[in-house]
Formats: sequence, structure tokens, C-alpha cells
Amino acid sequence: GVSPQVCWLAPEQTAGKQKPFMYTQGQAVLNRSFFPGFDTPSVKCTYSATVQVPEGFTAVMSATSWEKQKDNTFVFEMSKPIPSYLIALAVGDILSADVGPRSRVWAEPCLIEAAKTEYSGVIEEFLEVGEKLFGPYVWGRYDILFMPPSFPFGGMENPCLTFVTPCLLAGDRSLVDVIIHEISHSWFGNLVTNATWGEFWLNEGFTMYAQRRISTEVYGAAYTCLEAATGRALLRQHMDSTGEDHPLNKLRVVIEPGLLCINPDDTYNETPYEKGYCFVSYLAHLVGDQSKFDAFLRAYVNRFKFQSITADDTLGFFLEYFPELKEKGVDSIPGFEFDRWLNTPGWPPYLPDLSPGQQLMKPADELAELWAASGLSMEAIEDIDIRGWRTYQLIYFLDQVLQKSPLPEGNVERLSRMYPEISKAQNAELRLRWCQIVLKNNLEAEYSKVKDFLHSQGKQKYTLPLYRAMWGGSEAARALAMETFSATAPTLHINVQNYVKKILGLEAAE
Ligand code: BES
Ligand code: ZN
Repeated sequence: GVSPQVCWLAPEQTAGKQKPFMYTQGQAVLNRSFFPGFDTPSVKCTYSATVQVPEGFTAVMSATSWEKQKDNTFVFEMSKPIPSYLIALAVGDILSADVGPRSRVWAEPCLIEAAKTEYSGVIEEFLEVGEKLFGPYVWGRYDILFMPPSFPFGGMENPCLTFVTPCLLAGDRSLVDVIIHEISHSWFGNLVTNATWGEFWLNEGFTMYAQRRISTEVYGAAYTCLEAATGRALLRQHMDSTGEDHPLNKLRVVIEPGLLCINPDDTYNETPYEKGYCFVSYLAHLVGDQSKFDAFLRAYVNRFKFQSITADDTLGFFLEYFPELKEKGVDSIPGFEFDRWLNTPGWPPYLPDLSPGQQLMKPADELAELWAASGLSMEAIEDIDIRGWRTYQLIYFLDQVLQKSPLPEGNVERLSRMYPEISKAQNAELRLRWCQIVLKNNLEAEYSKVKDFLHSQGKQKYTLPLYRAMWGGSEAARALAMETFSATAPTLHINVQNYVKKILGLEAAE
């Protein structure tokens, strides 16, 4: 039978709209409907697979080797032990192009040129910096598969073959941090794995830290701190909307029947990522020396590679590696106890210093301030030229505007006219923010942009915030939500469908 957790897409649901496509998304617990096995991250094994596809299709998997045999049969083998959630398969009308010595991109024919241009010559540097920081890259190849637009994530770190949303094809490499993130999972998550989904932060918090270490080496501290500031803004928005004390806002979550949640997918929010990042940054701060902390991360990966562990293992190893810190009792400094980090919900007790990003954030802060004023000082506004800004500066600016919204009557219309590069942007991160601003300011004239964006892609982190905003808005906004959902629901991933239904009060997502 056809399981809804294995995704079967009709031709209309692909970028090229010519041929069907199928894929699996294992994380967190969806692979139990793909194959029988121990679907828990605490168990690792190797695998092999033989996949026969119809003429004109190609199969790809998260495997260390593959071979095409006769009769459209593909044989795969993953020679390293991995948890079940990292076994992934996709079949479609896809082509590949080399983008580096151990990397190629896979995409539908209509996207392959764009995919190649976006990442040609940039992947290898990330891998090399990662190896220098965290130790050998053990997976052989690092390839990237561009998924159909409804793929629910920015990226999924399937070993040897990261799956990504086609939204990354911004044309200017501005969203490459997603790739750096998925590459970072090659050490944190895929080599050293959280033993339970209740400690998902071990995967994501360490990966955010590793991502920003690679980014700092490649792009410098200023840019990386700016990107981290946008992450902190997402954590602020998340905690504001759920309440800081929400039980999901702790790093160690209890996933059990009868308790807060029984489905690990429900723990997917900013806390494991950004609060987790703060905790790892706090550990680095305790050490006080970046190169010593980098050496610790290398030793940690080496100690626990191919294993599944808990936070107690991580923190125990940290204290063992730095006996002088253990002696000082750094695990129980009042207000910063390791136990508090893990088990108390709320805003992180320690925030890393992002001031190296100030030079990039300050103009954006000032401009947001100006646009939030009742009497607009157009001269001061025109003095700030945003044309030379990096995409992340614009994102940061829009987050500030959103936070200050609703703006005084008429300001958003003016802003929209003044900056077509924002209000008519094709970049998905800018489109998301612009749509959020449109909704928060109830700018009905631009509702069509919300609709178009939700029709163009189905990423969970873009889709849910917009439905929440529509549902919390005017009658017209609610109508827009209903209309958009009835048109797009069949194209959305089953999890995303269920979460939207829950927001719209259509049906409880268990
Ligand atoms: N492993 C996650 C995606 C995921 C999380 C799938 C939980 C299923 C359940 C992936 O590495 C990820 O975090 N992707 C982010 C990238 C971002 C943080 C740069 C995304 O998709 O937005
Ligand atoms: Zn991740």
C-alpha cells in the first residue's frame, strides 16, 4: 500500500511539471512507514538497497556507493553505520552536474543550470574548513539534491546527499548558510547522534555552532554575527509566541504518551537550534580560548563517532576534557547550572557576544527606527542607501520592522514603493519577511504576495508562521488562509498539512 509518509508527487507538483517524483523524509520518525526496522536514533546500522525505476527516471539515496545496472536498476550501499532517520531515497527525472572534486548537484532538468551556477566551486571550501575544524569528513562524497518546491525543510542532512529546497536558488549564493549547516551535520548529528529525540538540541545546537564556526572562517565574524542575530530574532519571536515558560522551551524535552507531546516532530522549533547554540557558545566561553574549544570539538567527535549519545555523555566528556573547569565546578555556577540549561524552559541565561556584527546591524537598526516613526523623515531615510546591503542585512532590517509593526498608517505602503527590491523580492527569506509585514500591518493590497508565496513552495518554517499570522489577523486574512490552504493542501507534506489544519482549527494534528 501507499503510505502517506512516503511522498509521491504528481507531475504538477514538480518544478518541471512533466514527470512524477517520489522521495522519503525520515527525520524524525517517518521512516517506519518506509521500511521495517528500529526507527530510533539510538540504533545505527549499515544498509544496502536495490531500486528499480521506470524508464527515464533516476534513483538516488544517502549511500556511500551506487551503481546503475541493467533494466533501470540502481544498487546502493551505505558502508558506515547510521541511524534509521538518515536513510533516504528520491526518484525523479533528475540530472547531475559536478560542482567540486567530491560534490555534484542533482536537480530536475529545468533547474540544473541554476543549481550548478549557485554552488559551483564553493562547496569544497566548506568541507575543507569543516575538516580542519572538526576532523576528517568520513562520508566520501557530499552531493546536493534539489527537491520539488513542496519539500518541507530548507535542508535535510542525509549523509552523502543533502536534500534541499529549491528556494535556495537565489542566484547570488545568499542562502548558502543552509548548505554550511547541512555540511556541519556531517560531524554533529550524522557521526555523533542524539540517542533520543528529546535531546534533539545535541544535533541542532552543536550544528548551529559548527555552522557559525565555518562561516566565521570563510566569511568573517561580522557577517556571521549578523546571521546569528537573525537567528536570535527568530528565537525571540518563537518564545514570545509560545511563552518563555513553555515546556518545549527547554533543551531536554520529555516525549512520552500522556505528557506534553508524543510526536518528536512536534519539538521542531527554534529552541533546540538557537538556545542550543547559546549553550554550546557558553561552553566555549567557559573555556575562553577558541582554538582550545575547537580542539575539544575534534576530540568529542573522535570519541563518540558512529555512536548515539545523551547530553550527559557530552557534558561528562567536556568536564573530563577540561579537568580544571571540572574542579572549579563550572557545571553548577548559580544561574548557569548545566542542569538549568537542560531542564528549565526560558530565555538562554547566556548569550554570545554578537557585537562584531554591529557595523552591519547598526544601519539596519537605524533605518527600521526611521520607518517606525509617525512623521517619516524622508530625507534621513533617503540618506541610507540599501542597494549595497547584503541579503542578511535586509533580513535583519525586515525583522526589526516586523517587530515594530503595525507601523503608523501609510508607512508600509510607502516602504513598499520605496524599496521594490524588498517588496518584489524573489529571495525566499525576504519574501517570508515581507509577507509577515504585509499581514501584521493588514496591507490587503499586497495579500496576493502571501498567496503567491504559499503557492510557490511548502517549507514548514515559511508556511506555519504565515498561517499563524493570517489566522490571528482580520476576517479578510482568515479568508485568505482558508482559500490558500484549500488550494495548496494536496501539495504540502503530510506533517505540514496537519500543522496548518491545527492552526486553522480544522482538525487536531493528533
Ligand atoms: N535536520 C534538520 C531538518 C529537520 C529537523 C527535519 C527536524 C526533520 C525534523 C536540518 O538540518 C535543518 O535544521 N534545516 C534547517 C536549516 C537551517 C537551520 C539553516 C531548515 O530546514 O531550515
Ligand atoms: Zn540541522
